[in-house]
Amino acid sequence: MKILITGGHGQLGHDVSQVLEREHKVVPCSSQELDISSQAAVDAAIAALHPDLVINCAAYTAVDNCEKEKELAWKVNARGPENLARGMEARGGRLIHISTDYVFDGNKPITESYTEEDPVGPLSEYGSSKLAGEQAVTEISSDHLILRTAWLYGWQGKNFLKTMLRLALADPYRELRVVNDQYGSLTWTATLARQIQAVLTSDLQGIAHATAEGASTWFQGACYFLEAMEVPHNLVPCSTSEYPTPAHRPTNSILENRRLKQAGVSLFTSWQQDIDAFVRQYKEELLQEAKG
Ligand SMILES: NC(=O)c1ccc[n+]([C@@H]2O[C@H](COP(=O)([O-])OP(=O)(O)OC[C@H]3O[C@@H](n4cnc5c(N)ncnc54)[C@H](OP(=O)(O)O)[C@@H]3O)[C@@H](O)[C@H]2O)c1
Repeated sequence: MKILITGGHGQLGHDVSQVLEREHKVVPCSSQELDISSQAAVDAAIAALHPDLVINCAAYTAVDNCEKEKELAWKVNARGPENLARGMEARGGRLIHISTDYVFDGNKPITESYTEEDPVGPLSEYGSSKLAGEQAVTEISSDHLILRTAWLYGWQGKNFLKTMLRLALADPYRELRVVNDQYGSLTWTATLARQIQAVLTSDLQGIAHATAEGASTWFQGACYFLEAMEVPHNLVPCSTSEYPTPAHRPTNSILENRRLKQAGVSLFTSWQQDIDAFVRQYKEELLQEAKG
């Protein structure tokens, strides 16, 4: 199969390309190579490459910056997937689009998780623009799968765990306040990439949740990671109100992978198992990178 991967140099796009190139002809594109906010650029790429499948890993992912760069956020996160859906629909082909837990308002009790049937209610420009992207794909594409994931980390690029590591290594005594009242599932891009490979053999359509099993707060996740890395730290739990950010984030964005499980294709295990595997695979490289 010929697969075009947009955002191919991002955290997830990199891992998806690596996993799929073993069995498929994969064309990963950076934003310079293919700007998904341009319908003309999208149509030209599809006409030149004739992909059987597009996997859209491209997005404007800086959640707080989306609040002040609304226009850019909507161009990339809403119009981008719309352009890809239109381009693939005109030519005939499947679209796998990556979305987010931030389409939910987070008001469910922490003991409950969000299924694909739950009503959405984004709190931020990032969440709203990603939701508009989902809606465009749903309306336009007759052959699509939207995978909602959450709290991604991986070897490629920047992420929350890498930031915690860099700060703890720079000064293990420095008090680092980390939010302890938002709940979600830290999800390894390598596992999500294998999950995307697994869904290629299914004909799953519509929306499916795709995150690691179990949940933590940002504080609990960071402590678990630094302990696995054997890096001393002085993390201190704090509340969302003590750590205000431009974008509002859901208190509970725990997703249940109900549709993947029903289809018998879910590969996810606990977030702790994935952090353990991430550390086993990349410990030395992570330490080297964090020390600069
Ligand atoms: N990161 C998370 O915690 C998280 C959580 C939930 C859902 N998601 C979703 O998961 C997907 C992958 O996220 P990620 O963490 O891999 O993000 P990432 O590392 O920020 O990568 C996103 C990529 O999108 C590309 N991009 C930005 N604007 C573009 C444009 N106009 N045209 C084409 N490409 C463009 C960027 O390319 P350049 O670098 O070349 O500009 C970047 O490589 C996204 O859909 C995101 O919304 C992420």
